[in-house]
Amino acid sequence: MCGIIGYIGKQKASKILINALKNLEYRGYDSAGIAVREATDIKSVKKTGRVANVEAEVHQANLKGGVGIGHTRWATHGGVTEANTHPHISSDGKFVLVHNGVIENYQSLRKYLEEKGFDFKSETDTEAIVNLIAYHYRKEPDNTEDRFTSAVRKALIHLEGTYGIAVLCVDCPNEMVGARNGSPLILGLGKDENFLASDVSAFASRSKDVVYLNEGDIVHLHSDKYDITTIDSRNVSAIVESLDWDIEESELGNYTHFMEKEIFEQPQALENSMRGRFSDDNSTAKLGGIDLSPRELRSVDRFVMFGCGTTWHACLAAEYLIERFARIPVEVEYASEFRYRNAPISDDSLIFAFSQSGETIDTLAAMRESNRKGFRTLAITNVVGSSIARQTNGGGIYQHVGPEIGVASTKAFTSQVLLSSMIALYMGRLRDMSLGDGTNYVDALKSCPEMVDRILKQADSIREIAVRYSKFNDFLFMGRQAMFPIALEGALKLKEISYIHAEGYPAAEMKHGPIALISEDCPSVFLATSGRIMKKTLANMQEVKARNGKVISIVPEGTEVPKECADDVIFIPRCHEAIHPILATIPLQLLSYYIAVERGCDVDKPRNLAKSVTVE
Ligand code: AGP
Ligand code: GLU
Repeated sequence: MCGIIGYIGKQKASKILINALKNLEYRGYDSAGIAVREATDIKSVKKTGRVANVEAEVHQANLKGGVGIGHTRWATHGGVTEANTHPHISSDGKFVLVHNGVIENYQSLRKYLEEKGFDFKSETDTEAIVNLIAYHYRKEPDNTEDRFTSAVRKALIHLEGTYGIAVLCVDCPNEMVGARNGSPLILGLGKDENFLASDVSAFASRSKDVVYLNEGDIVHLHSDKYDITTIDSRNVSAIVESLDWDIEESELGNYTHFMEKEIFEQPQALENSMRGRFSDDNSTAKLGGIDLSPRELRSVDRFVMFGCGTTWHACLAAEYLIERFARIPVEVEYASEFRYRNAPISDDSLIFAFSQSGETIDTLAAMRESNRKGFRTLAITNVVGSSIARQTNGGGIYQHVGPEIGVASTKAFTSQVLLSSMIALYMGRLRDMSLGDGTNYVDALKSCPEMVDRILKQADSIREIAVRYSKFNDFLFMGRQAMFPIALEGALKLKEISYIHAEGYPAAEMKHGPIALISEDCPSVFLATSGRIMKKTLANMQEVKARNGKVISIVPEGTEVPKECADDVIFIPRCHEAIHPILATIPLQLLSYYIAVERGCDVDKPRNLAKSVTVE
């Protein structure tokens, strides 16, 4: 939910921190701030609003130090005010800290610390951490070895909740301490400079060697060395990994918004997701990241899939694909519900977590609960080395679509649906799917990028439709069968970037209530792609038209859509049912994007949202 950066090196920290925060801003953007160690003290600059607001002030402050920390906030405790903006300084002036996460026992800690003479200037939970560190530091004998790290460790032991932190101490000018538990934190190793950050986009332009910190790790950092221990003081031997990261991938290029870029990148992104993952001889998929043998997979009697938001819609789309083509039951759960539901699940179930960021705390917690119960857990994620990717016990599938910066997920969603379709193919071919059916399925998947490209070429005509519908404040999205999850996704896309109220339903459900909303002020978008039930969906569209509701329909090329059924028609290529959900998604992404642009919304950073939800 927030972005953390720490820099320790020979360069001017303030410039590096601000550039890093710009790359992290998609993670949360209520307010931002930095703190830099100057000659004798630590100076901080913090402002509400975007990083650009801080940047202007930092120029004036002319900070010269080579050690600093920065934060871009998504508020959980305390409003969006300058006082609540990180970094936070301990009331004795000794420590400065930035934090991602939620401290659940902060009130009791605050009360205790106030009784010990500490005072608080903010409403945040974070301020309890920095004052608790100062409290333990004060209690440590002056000659304690590594008194700084020891005080941090002692404070962390008393915390309940989640944290990713970076801390500076005024007595230790060339040192920094970081720690994580429940929120991401990565160590970046440069030449005479080191970094701490929430994700690699913060420092990838300066360092390609990383150490993914684990839960409970504490890192003590200098510009040319570091050591990692656990919260119970055990030494950790770091595993240094090399980043496969192309900085241009996280830059805007000639696009207006990252969301626009990521919509139009989808043909290439889907190619990348499939690359090297077909066995043409056997007309099936090759999913090498799954650590289960064909024999073990054949004995799977159920998939349990969970995620949040758009990623939950991908799980729902996977249910239709896997049940249709592999004939295996799929249960789809909201991760935030599953983690507490104590669902009765058979030993032969396979647990699959979906998460673009690999850091969503509800999904991570559901994964951990599944591991605790001894289930076989896998994941589909887009971030290599992410917390969820590293928590599976059965491997998983990386999406390889490149960084997704826009808060509204687009290429990551279609990639998750594509990979789910590949799982359906793979499991189907382990069971009853014939070689011929497998060959047709493989051909359909391989044709998907080109078909997506054909739809993207309709962008101008879809934009024209979007402009005409941009003034409405209520929408219904409807589809049957495999189109129902896509209707939900279309509604969420519109909601989250244009702030228009939108709901998705199974088309047949409309008559059981939602039809009461239909009027000339509430248009409907219908996904009518499957031949088997096309007539029924056309009938639903007519029911809407009969009540003066406007209708946008998305149908396969060549479909006859009578005027009494729809006001606007968007055609998608005729295709195998294995890729229908992917193709039907593209017009909805474009519609929501162009409507949001027409309404002047901040498409890449919608209000109240953040890209990666690492707080509960
Ligand atoms: C998608 O448009 C939203 N930004 C949000 O629903 C997102 O899908 C959800 O937070 C899950 O994120 P994840 O895939 O990184 O776990
Ligand atoms: N809980 C802290 C706050 O509200 C940190 C939130 C975040 O992760 O951005 O300031």
